[in-house]
Amino acid sequence: MHLFARAVRAYLVLICLFVASQLFSQPAPKQTFPWSNTSLSPDERATLVLKQMTLDEKITLLHGTGHHGLGPMSPLSSGSNGGAGYVVGIERLGIPGIQMSDAAYGVRSSGQNGRYSTALPCNLAAAATWDLKGAYEYGALIGRELRAQGFNMSLGGGVNLTREPRNGRNFEYLGEDPILAGSLVGQLIRGTQDQHVLGDIKHYALNNQESGRNSVNVNIDERSMRETDLLAFEIGIRDGDPAGVMCSYNRVNGEYACDNKYLLTDVLKRAWKFPGFVLSDWGAAHSIEKASAAGMDHEEPNEYFYGARLKEAVQSGKVPMSQVDDHVHRILRTMFATAVIDDPPQKSVVDVMAGFDTAQHIAEEGMVLLKNEKNVLPLDASRIKSIAIIGGHADVGMVSGGGSAQVDAPGGNAIMPAGKRATTWGVPVWFPTAPLKAIQAKAPNAKVEFDPGTDLDSAASLAKGADVALVFAWRAEIEGADAPNMSLPGNQNDLIAKVAAANPNTVVVLETGNPVTMPWLDQVSGVLEAWFAGSSGHKALANILFGDVNPSGKLPITFPKSEADLPHPTINKPDPAVQPHGPDAWRQTLEGIPAFQTKYDEGLKVGYKWYDAEKKPVLFPFGYGLSYTTFKYSGLKLTPAEKLSVTFTVKNTGNRAGTEIAEVYAGLPLSSGEPPKRLVGWERVELKAGESKDVSVQIEPLFLSAFDPQQHAWKKSAGEYTILVGGSSANLPLHQALALQ
Ligand code: BGC
Repeated sequence: MHLFARAVRAYLVLICLFVASQLFSQPAPKQTFPWSNTSLSPDERATLVLKQMTLDEKITLLHGTGHHGLGPMSPLSSGSNGGAGYVVGIERLGIPGIQMSDAAYGVRSSGQNGRYSTALPCNLAAAATWDLKGAYEYGALIGRELRAQGFNMSLGGGVNLTREPRNGRNFEYLGEDPILAGSLVGQLIRGTQDQHVLGDIKHYALNNQESGRNSVNVNIDERSMRETDLLAFEIGIRDGDPAGVMCSYNRVNGEYACDNKYLLTDVLKRAWKFPGFVLSDWGAAHSIEKASAAGMDHEEPNEYFYGARLKEAVQSGKVPMSQVDDHVHRILRTMFATAVIDDPPQKSVVDVMAGFDTAQHIAEEGMVLLKNEKNVLPLDASRIKSIAIIGGHADVGMVSGGGSAQVDAPGGNAIMPAGKRATTWGVPVWFPTAPLKAIQAKAPNAKVEFDPGTDLDSAASLAKGADVALVFAWRAEIEGADAPNMSLPGNQNDLIAKVAAANPNTVVVLETGNPVTMPWLDQVSGVLEAWFAGSSGHKALANILFGDVNPSGKLPITFPKSEADLPHPTINKPDPAVQPHGPDAWRQTLEGIPAFQTKYDEGLKVGYKWYDAEKKPVLFPFGYGLSYTTFKYSGLKLTPAEKLSVTFTVKNTGNRAGTEIAEVYAGLPLSSGEPPKRLVGWERVELKAGESKDVSVQIEPLFLSAFDPQQHAWKKSAGEYTILVGGSSANLPLHQALALQ
């Protein structure tokens, strides 16, 4: 046979053999180890692994492998799945790597990695639902999509309280109340971890402003921090049992958070008995011995401290091996407890349609109707003839929150600035969820016209002839910067005033991740806060505008009248001259940069507690939100038991079905020195037109306690409490005094 033909035949035979071997071969049996035994506890399993590990292997688990722009990349980062963090596994012992992805309101960088992920409404919007089941679903969706994309750890779970309403990350957090925020984040984490993905809670602690976040030193007394920001973490960790706690960039009372023994050991690991691991925020680690002794278990994103230098410190006896073992044990036991070893992620197609539904449902529950004069809303699709849609790029899409939380828009940024990539840090990302299209679909017979709002006269003239004018106003928010003030940027305030002067039926739709001031409030008929509304925001919005969904969201954050009313009218900022800059900035930051001081002397008075105590009127209070129907409260009854039982009746007194978030507040005995009242419970009550329901809310003893700094413990004071019930922190028609021992 011709030599060439022989070669071809031999090649074909080889291919057939290869295909047959692939078809008929069995997968290699999974190697089993003593710690593969799932009937052992996570701690027992971790102890068995630890006994087999060399010091190098232990150290491998204690650091990441690099992040572009934040120092050198390890060659091992080539095993990364494209997330913000990658920890190399110990293959010899069957311990997988940890693939971490940011996932505040959806999986970050999916587009960049050639994948897709759902953008849920921003976390603040989720907080406006006050819906614990919804928060679980929110976290579960994130967990499913992380798994489908090959990740086994979420870096979501932001729960820093809103002390500063200009903070550029408030959209990633859950508002200003520790009990609401902590309860919601606990459910969110539970939802994620039930998908066998390690959860996280962040940024621990008191990282309440972005300005100078690497150098700010927060001064605060123990009682205030335990009852405010730390209480949100305490509840979130208790309810959600997260794998990781991310220590933050800032200092607290003189120590960096990741070096802070009080925060990491005394409170987190001792008082709260947290069994998981503490990981540094990206570049928030600052030392070896100090951090290890304080309780930081893992450094991200690289190994500046917790690599070769930690090894040396162990070998020279500066860091005891027992401490390293504790760091490693915490990581391993948590990986077993969350089943990421027994049930590793399987890459698959994200369930896009289910994502749309969940995102829409949460957006519908979270939008807050702030004003509705003369019942301008809902719009009547059968009667309305013309709608003017003005501003906010409402013909193209809706804006989203930026920074490490950013979820990529399908198809790229719907408003792509020239010369930029689909996701460029600092450039707002617009989702292709055009309100214009969703509104036109609801009212096919109406003339729906758009004006971009750049020319005020042109916008006013379109508004003048229309039955209703909908003005879309927005403000982007981004990690790493605070807003300069509480105003809508650009010409938007003037635009709204001008349109409102031209059309008495003007409704403003806000797409913001923070409260904004509203100098035009008296001139408009309606205001709807839509937040950053996610992948199905336009549909949720249209359903609310046309009354297919009755709004039920309530503010998780106060809308103050002006900056002058804030506890800190101006944000303390660092001297730009001492800020690190240049290509070596990452190293300067790690080595430590001079601190500037901020004093949280408002103490316990965070959010509504400040405005209540200082008797400052606000634009819209915490807990406020309108419905297209009305509710009446009656019949308050208090039954003291281990958990105080608060019962009352809510009646829907209007003519359409609706959901009322019924809120329960407590005033503590005067001697306790607490602000006038605090939220202690709530219930979402669904009511048909005319229907009444009896509601019963059980109040946890912790929620009626104050922190005693002498004894470093929560204490319930004896004395007279007041329980107040109603539909917002400023409208509590039911109240009753109660003497407790
Ligand atoms: C942020 C974290 C984030 C991390 C990784 C940091 O800059 O503060 O929230 O998880 O980067 O992207």
